[in-house]
Amino acid sequence: MHSGRYDNQAANIRSAAQEFQRTLDAEGIALQIMSAAEVRLDHEILSWVAEEQIPYIGHWRGERVMLLEFPHSHVPVGADKLVAWLLKQQIRPMIAHPERNKDVMRSIDKLVPFVQLGCLLQVTAGAVAGTFGEYARVRAADLLARGWVTVLASDAHNMEARPPELEPGRAAAALIVGEEESWKLVRDRPAEIVGTTDPERQG
Ligand SMILES: [Fe+2]
Repeated sequence: MHSGRYDNQAANIRSAAQEFQRTLDAEGIALQIMSAAEVRLDHEILSWVAEEQIPYIGHWRGERVMLLEFPHSHVPVGADKLVAWLLKQQIRPMIAHPERNKDVMRSIDKLVPFVQLGCLLQVTAGAVAGTFGEYARVRAADLLARGWVTVLASDAHNMEARPPELEPGRAAAALIVGEEESWKLVRDRPAEIVGTTDPERQG
């Protein structure tokens, strides 16, 4: 959801996802999809929350989780105020790909206030593996070493340039946080947030 660029809201995202699910079912592809959105930081978020137009990605310790995206170029002044306001509404922001934000790449200090406020962090798996360049890789590794990363995500856009790939990033993360935590990043915590459990781990 990016005002003026991707004018999506909960309703049209949900119906597109349902149509996709119907196609998968019709083709006999056993894949269950769920929908949410990266919500670009914008003053409109206040009214979207009030109008219940935000497709939350799930729940974390009793609060709704919003996948919040900063502009790539910088961390806007006042972003911490919006985060504080969201937290007051029992909405926990999960910041999308902080390792690729230019301000955060220059200095991790830019991210500290958001972590201290209680934001979750979603790092792109490919960034840990080095797909997004050395600066993003170093920053992603730094965030992992500090134990600040909640989940690793594919941030898939397509099958070519941005494929749905997690394993190279998970393997690279395992060298920093260990095998057990690396699986939590790609499996256990995402499942907890979206409210599913991995059948392989049951029983
Ligand atoms: Fe994004």
